[in-house]
Amino acid sequence: MADPTQSLLVLGASRGLGLGMTKEFLARGWAVVATSRGSSEGLAELKTRHPDRLRLETLDINDPAAARYLASGLGDKRVTILFVNAGVVDDKRPADQSEIDEFTRLMTTNALSPIRMIEIFAPLLATPGVIGVMSSGLGSVTNNTGGGWDVYRASKAALNTLLRSRAARHREGPAHLAIAPGWVRTDMGGPTASLDVATAMRGVADVLISRIGSSTCEYLDYKGSAVAW
Ligand SMILES: NC(=O)c1ccc[n+]([C@@H]2O[C@H](COP(=O)([O-])OP(=O)(O)OC[C@H]3O[C@@H](n4cnc5c(N)ncnc54)[C@H](OP(=O)(O)O)[C@@H]3O)[C@@H](O)[C@H]2O)c1
Repeated sequence: MADPTQSLLVLGASRGLGLGMTKEFLARGWAVVATSRGSSEGLAELKTRHPDRLRLETLDINDPAAARYLASGLGDKRVTILFVNAGVVDDKRPADQSEIDEFTRLMTTNALSPIRMIEIFAPLLATPGVIGVMSSGLGSVTNNTGGGWDVYRASKAALNTLLRSRAARHREGPAHLAIAPGWVRTDMGGPTASLDVATAMRGVADVLISRIGSSTCEYLDYKGSAVAW
Protein backbone atom coordinates (compact mmCIF):
# COMPACT_ATOMS: atom_id res chain seq x y z
CA MET A 1 0.00 0.00 0.00
CA ALA A 2 2.90 2.41 0.72
CA ASP A 3 3.50 4.70 -2.24
CA PRO A 4 5.92 7.58 -1.58
CA THR A 5 5.40 8.84 -5.15
CA GLN A 6 1.92 9.96 -4.07
CA SER A 7 1.85 13.19 -2.12
CA LEU A 8 -0.57 15.35 -0.17
CA LEU A 9 -0.39 19.09 0.40
CA VAL A 10 -2.58 19.94 3.39
CA LEU A 11 -3.11 23.53 4.53
CA GLY A 12 -3.94 24.12 8.20
CA ALA A 13 -2.49 21.01 9.83
CA SER A 14 -1.32 22.18 13.27
CA ARG A 15 -3.92 20.17 15.22
CA GLY A 16 -7.30 18.47 14.99
CA LEU A 17 -8.38 17.12 11.62
CA GLY A 18 -5.48 18.55 9.63
CA LEU A 19 -2.95 16.92 11.92
CA GLY A 20 -4.98 13.70 11.78
CA MET A 21 -5.02 13.80 7.98
CA THR A 22 -1.24 14.29 7.93
CA LYS A 23 -0.82 11.30 10.23
CA GLU A 24 -3.15 9.13 8.14
CA PHE A 25 -1.43 9.79 4.80
CA LEU A 26 2.03 9.29 6.34
CA ALA A 27 0.81 5.94 7.70
CA ARG A 28 -0.21 5.05 4.13
CA GLY A 29 3.33 5.71 2.92
CA TRP A 30 2.58 9.04 1.19
CA ALA A 31 4.82 12.08 1.18
CA VAL A 32 3.13 15.05 2.88
CA VAL A 33 3.68 18.79 2.82
CA ALA A 34 1.81 20.13 5.86
CA THR A 35 1.38 23.82 6.61
CA SER A 36 0.49 25.60 9.83
CA ARG A 37 0.38 29.26 10.75
CA GLY A 38 2.34 28.70 13.99
CA SER A 39 4.39 26.02 15.66
CA SER A 40 2.75 22.67 16.24
CA GLU A 41 3.90 20.04 18.71
CA GLY A 42 1.95 17.39 16.83
CA LEU A 43 3.60 18.17 13.49
CA ALA A 44 7.04 18.42 15.09
CA GLU A 45 6.56 14.98 16.61
CA LEU A 46 5.48 13.52 13.24
CA LYS A 47 8.51 15.13 11.61
CA THR A 48 10.85 13.26 13.95
CA ARG A 49 9.18 9.98 12.93
CA HIS A 50 9.03 10.74 9.19
CA PRO A 51 11.90 13.13 8.45
CA ASP A 52 12.08 12.20 4.75
CA ARG A 53 8.39 12.08 3.86
CA LEU A 54 7.05 15.04 5.85
CA ARG A 55 7.85 18.63 4.90
CA LEU A 56 6.62 21.38 7.22
CA GLU A 57 5.92 24.91 6.05
CA THR A 58 4.46 28.01 7.68
CA LEU A 59 1.35 29.57 6.16
CA ASP A 60 -1.64 31.59 7.28
CA ILE A 61 -4.28 30.84 4.65
CA ASN A 62 -5.47 34.44 4.89
CA ASP A 63 -2.15 35.62 3.48
CA PRO A 64 -2.17 35.06 -0.30
CA ALA A 65 1.21 36.77 -0.78
CA ALA A 66 2.82 34.27 1.59
CA ALA A 67 1.01 31.44 -0.20
CA ARG A 68 2.36 32.58 -3.58
CA TYR A 69 5.85 32.72 -2.09
CA LEU A 70 5.47 29.20 -0.69
CA ALA A 71 4.07 27.86 -3.97
CA SER A 72 7.06 29.23 -5.86
CA GLY A 73 9.38 27.76 -3.20
CA LEU A 74 7.85 24.32 -3.76
CA GLY A 75 9.09 24.69 -7.34
CA ASP A 76 8.39 21.76 -9.61
CA LYS A 77 7.06 19.58 -6.81
CA ARG A 78 3.83 17.87 -7.84
CA VAL A 79 1.09 16.88 -5.38
CA THR A 80 -1.59 14.26 -5.94
CA ILE A 81 -4.04 15.79 -3.47
CA LEU A 82 -4.33 19.48 -2.58
CA PHE A 83 -6.46 19.86 0.54
CA VAL A 84 -7.49 22.99 2.45
CA ASN A 85 -8.45 21.97 5.97
CA ALA A 86 -8.12 25.22 7.94
CA GLY A 87 -11.34 26.62 9.34
CA VAL A 88 -12.68 28.66 12.24
CA VAL A 89 -15.91 28.91 14.19
CA ASP A 90 -17.55 31.88 15.90
CA ASP A 91 -19.63 32.11 19.06
CA LYS A 92 -22.69 30.83 17.13
CA ARG A 93 -24.85 33.93 17.59
CA PRO A 94 -27.78 34.34 15.19
CA ALA A 95 -26.56 36.11 12.06
CA ASP A 96 -28.31 39.40 12.80
CA GLN A 97 -26.30 39.68 16.04
CA SER A 98 -22.97 38.93 14.44
CA GLU A 99 -20.36 41.68 14.52
CA ILE A 100 -19.23 42.67 11.03
CA ASP A 101 -15.58 41.90 11.86
CA GLU A 102 -16.51 38.45 13.09
CA PHE A 103 -18.74 37.76 10.07
CA THR A 104 -15.90 38.84 7.81
CA ARG A 105 -13.38 36.68 9.68
CA LEU A 106 -15.49 33.57 9.20
CA MET A 107 -16.35 34.24 5.58
CA THR A 108 -12.75 35.06 4.76
CA THR A 109 -11.12 32.11 6.51
CA ASN A 110 -13.75 29.49 5.72
CA ALA A 111 -14.78 30.45 2.18
CA LEU A 112 -12.66 33.05 0.39
CA SER A 113 -9.21 31.96 1.56
CA PRO A 114 -9.62 28.24 0.77
CA ILE A 115 -10.61 29.10 -2.80
CA ARG A 116 -7.73 31.55 -3.11
CA MET A 117 -5.34 28.89 -1.79
CA ILE A 118 -6.64 26.41 -4.35
CA GLU A 119 -5.96 28.84 -7.20
CA ILE A 120 -2.47 29.57 -5.91
CA PHE A 121 -1.44 25.94 -5.35
CA ALA A 122 -3.37 24.29 -8.22
CA PRO A 123 -0.39 24.60 -10.63
CA LEU A 124 1.41 22.12 -8.35
CA LEU A 125 -1.31 19.52 -8.80
CA ALA A 126 -0.33 16.31 -10.60
CA THR A 127 -2.51 14.77 -13.29
CA PRO A 128 -4.56 12.96 -12.21
CA GLY A 129 -5.09 14.83 -8.97
CA VAL A 130 -7.74 15.81 -6.46
CA ILE A 131 -8.65 19.14 -4.90
CA GLY A 132 -10.44 18.99 -1.56
CA VAL A 133 -11.74 21.39 1.04
CA MET A 134 -12.93 20.69 4.56
CA SER A 135 -16.55 21.68 4.42
CA SER A 136 -19.07 20.52 7.01
CA GLY A 137 -22.43 18.84 7.10
CA LEU A 138 -23.60 22.22 8.42
CA GLY A 139 -22.79 23.68 4.99
CA SER A 140 -25.74 21.86 3.44
CA VAL A 141 -28.49 24.32 2.49
CA THR A 142 -30.91 21.46 1.86
CA ASN A 143 -30.38 19.87 5.27
CA ASN A 144 -30.60 23.13 7.20
CA THR A 145 -33.95 22.53 8.81
CA GLY A 146 -32.82 23.07 12.40
CA GLY A 147 -30.96 26.37 12.10
CA GLY A 148 -28.25 27.36 14.55
CA TRP A 149 -24.58 28.03 13.82
CA ASP A 150 -25.84 30.69 11.38
CA VAL A 151 -22.61 32.29 10.25
CA TYR A 152 -20.51 29.12 10.34
CA ARG A 153 -23.17 27.34 8.26
CA ALA A 154 -23.27 30.22 5.81
CA SER A 155 -19.48 30.24 5.50
CA LYS A 156 -19.36 26.53 4.67
CA ALA A 157 -22.29 26.86 2.24
CA ALA A 158 -20.36 29.72 0.61
CA LEU A 159 -17.26 27.52 0.45
CA ASN A 160 -19.28 24.78 -1.27
CA THR A 161 -20.69 27.24 -3.78
CA LEU A 162 -17.29 28.74 -4.56
CA LEU A 163 -15.87 25.25 -5.04
CA ARG A 164 -18.67 24.37 -7.46
CA SER A 165 -18.02 27.56 -9.39
CA ARG A 166 -14.35 26.67 -9.69
CA ALA A 167 -15.19 23.12 -10.75
CA ALA A 168 -17.52 24.50 -13.42
CA ARG A 169 -14.58 26.48 -14.81
CA HIS A 170 -12.48 23.28 -14.88
CA ARG A 171 -14.83 20.64 -16.17
CA GLU A 172 -11.95 18.62 -17.57
CA GLY A 173 -10.77 17.99 -14.00
CA PRO A 174 -9.37 17.53 -11.44
CA ALA A 175 -11.99 16.22 -9.03
CA HIS A 176 -13.27 18.92 -6.67
CA LEU A 177 -14.47 17.55 -3.33
CA ALA A 178 -16.24 19.29 -0.46
CA ILE A 179 -15.81 16.99 2.52
CA ALA A 180 -18.17 16.74 5.49
CA PRO A 181 -15.96 14.94 8.01
CA GLY A 182 -18.68 14.14 10.54
CA TRP A 183 -18.83 15.47 14.08
CA VAL A 184 -15.31 14.86 15.36
CA ARG A 185 -13.61 15.21 18.76
CA THR A 186 -11.25 18.16 18.22
CA ASP A 187 -10.94 21.58 19.83
CA MET A 188 -13.71 22.70 17.47
CA GLY A 189 -15.88 19.58 17.66
CA GLY A 190 -15.59 19.30 21.46
CA PRO A 191 -15.20 16.27 23.71
CA THR A 192 -18.71 14.88 23.21
CA ALA A 193 -18.50 14.59 19.40
CA SER A 194 -19.36 11.19 18.01
CA LEU A 195 -16.18 10.40 16.05
CA ASP A 196 -12.49 10.23 16.88
CA VAL A 197 -10.04 11.97 14.57
CA ALA A 198 -8.38 8.75 13.36
CA THR A 199 -11.68 7.16 12.25
CA ALA A 200 -12.86 10.29 10.46
CA MET A 201 -9.54 10.86 8.69
CA ARG A 202 -9.22 7.20 7.66
CA GLY A 203 -12.59 7.57 5.95
CA VAL A 204 -11.72 10.94 4.40
CA ALA A 205 -8.43 9.58 3.05
CA ASP A 206 -10.28 6.65 1.44
CA VAL A 207 -12.76 9.07 -0.15
CA LEU A 208 -10.06 11.41 -1.50
CA ILE A 209 -7.97 8.56 -2.92
CA SER A 210 -11.05 6.98 -4.51
CA ARG A 211 -11.56 10.12 -6.64
CA ILE A 212 -8.05 10.30 -8.14
CA GLY A 213 -8.68 10.24 -11.89
CA SER A 214 -12.23 11.54 -11.58
CA SER A 215 -13.31 15.01 -12.73
CA THR A 216 -16.49 15.30 -10.68
CA CYS A 217 -17.48 17.94 -8.17
CA GLU A 218 -19.02 16.22 -5.14
CA TYR A 219 -20.05 16.93 -1.57
CA LEU A 220 -19.25 13.77 0.38
CA ASP A 221 -19.16 12.62 3.98
CA TYR A 222 -16.30 10.66 5.53
CA LYS A 223 -17.90 7.39 4.43
CA GLY A 224 -18.14 8.51 0.81
CA SER A 225 -21.89 9.10 0.88
CA ALA A 226 -23.24 12.12 -1.01
CA VAL A 227 -24.43 15.05 1.11
CA ALA A 228 -27.26 17.19 -0.29
CA TRP A 229 -25.83 20.58 -1.36
N1 LIG B 1 -14.46 18.87 14.30
C1 LIG B 1 -15.61 18.77 13.67
O1 LIG B 1 -16.56 18.15 14.17
C2 LIG B 1 -15.79 19.39 12.30
C3 LIG B 1 -16.98 19.11 11.63
C4 LIG B 1 -17.18 19.64 10.36
C5 LIG B 1 -16.18 20.41 9.78
N2 LIG B 1 -15.03 20.69 10.45
C6 LIG B 1 -14.02 21.48 9.76
O2 LIG B 1 -12.80 20.79 9.77
C7 LIG B 1 -11.70 21.69 9.74
C8 LIG B 1 -10.78 21.40 10.89
O3 LIG B 1 -11.53 21.49 12.08
P1 LIG B 1 -11.01 20.95 13.50
O4 LIG B 1 -12.15 20.30 14.13
O5 LIG B 1 -9.72 20.24 13.37
O6 LIG B 1 -10.80 22.37 14.22
P2 LIG B 1 -9.69 22.90 15.21
O7 LIG B 1 -9.30 21.82 16.13
O8 LIG B 1 -10.21 24.17 15.75
O9 LIG B 1 -8.46 23.20 14.22
C9 LIG B 1 -8.59 24.21 13.24
C10 LIG B 1 -7.34 24.18 12.39
O10 LIG B 1 -7.44 25.22 11.41
C11 LIG B 1 -6.24 26.01 11.50
N3 LIG B 1 -6.47 27.38 11.06
C12 LIG B 1 -7.49 28.22 11.39
N4 LIG B 1 -7.33 29.38 10.77
C13 LIG B 1 -6.20 29.31 10.03
C14 LIG B 1 -5.51 30.18 9.18
N5 LIG B 1 -5.95 31.42 8.95
N6 LIG B 1 -4.38 29.75 8.57
C15 LIG B 1 -3.92 28.50 8.79
N7 LIG B 1 -4.53 27.62 9.60
C16 LIG B 1 -5.64 28.02 10.23
C17 LIG B 1 -5.88 25.95 12.98
O11 LIG B 1 -4.56 26.41 13.15
P3 LIG B 1 -4.07 27.08 14.56
O12 LIG B 1 -3.60 25.94 15.42
O13 LIG B 1 -2.97 27.98 14.14
O14 LIG B 1 -5.25 27.81 15.15
C18 LIG B 1 -6.07 24.45 13.21
O15 LIG B 1 -5.01 23.71 12.67
C19 LIG B 1 -12.33 23.10 9.79
O16 LIG B 1 -12.42 23.60 8.47
C20 LIG B 1 -13.70 22.83 10.37
O17 LIG B 1 -14.62 23.82 10.00
C21 LIG B 1 -14.82 20.19 11.72
